[in-house]
Amino acid sequence: MELFERMQATASFIQKRVSYRPKVAVVLGSGLGNLANEIDIHAEIPYAEIPHFPVATVKGHGGKLLFGLLNGQEVLAMSGRFHYYEGHSIESVSFPVRVMKALGIEVLLLSNAAGGIKPDMKVGDLMLIKDHINLQPEHPLRGLNDERLGPRFPDMTQAYDPIFLQHAAEILQQHKIPFHTGVYVGVQGPTFETPSEYKFFHLIGGDAVGMSTVPEVIVARHMDIRVFAVSVISDIGYPTEMMEEKISHESVLAMAAAAEPHVTLLIKGLIDSVYQPANLS
Ligand code: HPA
Repeated sequence: MELFERMQATASFIQKRVSYRPKVAVVLGSGLGNLANEIDIHAEIPYAEIPHFPVATVKGHGGKLLFGLLNGQEVLAMSGRFHYYEGHSIESVSFPVRVMKALGIEVLLLSNAAGGIKPDMKVGDLMLIKDHINLQPEHPLRGLNDERLGPRFPDMTQAYDPIFLQHAAEILQQHKIPFHTGVYVGVQGPTFETPSEYKFFHLIGGDAVGMSTVPEVIVARHMDIRVFAVSVISDIGYPTEMMEEKISHESVLAMAAAAEPHVTLLIKGLIDSVYQPANLS
């Protein structure tokens, strides 16, 4: 079955189980799954039950699709995402975003935990992603292009929607939550970086580094879904003297979880801005 048919088949399976038709989807990153508790759940479907979905393996990733109300607004949330380092093909990593398009999603809000490589960052800080550098070894759009999904050579000049970036900055300022705006470097993992690698990613223009998000953003932009993404800085990689003695998955999850209330507040505000644009200043 071709990708287009697979995404349609998966979407119609989901639509038979769920009556909600949200416009906004949220991807909950490592340690950020608590946002799911704020959703008034209407339906939940474990990934394992969804045709053509890969199966999530990593600790800290719940592995289910949630439909419900967040702040009274319909959302689709991915509790747990797929990573390239898990062994999934790059096409399956981004397949849920394909399905979102078939479900009618217009806006994708992504969160992740990332290593900070900008000098004034601290663990627990938020970074609004304004751009990325894709250093993953495979590209999700490699291969024949299906024109029904999007163009052969998608524009990436404004992959991260400037309007959402502005709304996000306003929301955080209103709540006096400090934040950075910066460039996310997408790597394969699963190792965290060596000191020299963190320094290299800083030197090429990165502000944070992580193992997710980039394939999802590329596929979303291919299909003209508007994108917003935020990183929680869960460890510091550069400057080298600020680097942690040891970086572990457990500490990344714990540090991301501690900052989770800020991410929740931000995502709720952005969802409001989609459904009720008049509420924004
Ligand atoms: N490097 C790569 N991925 C990450 C990191 C990091 O330091 N922290 C959280 N995800």
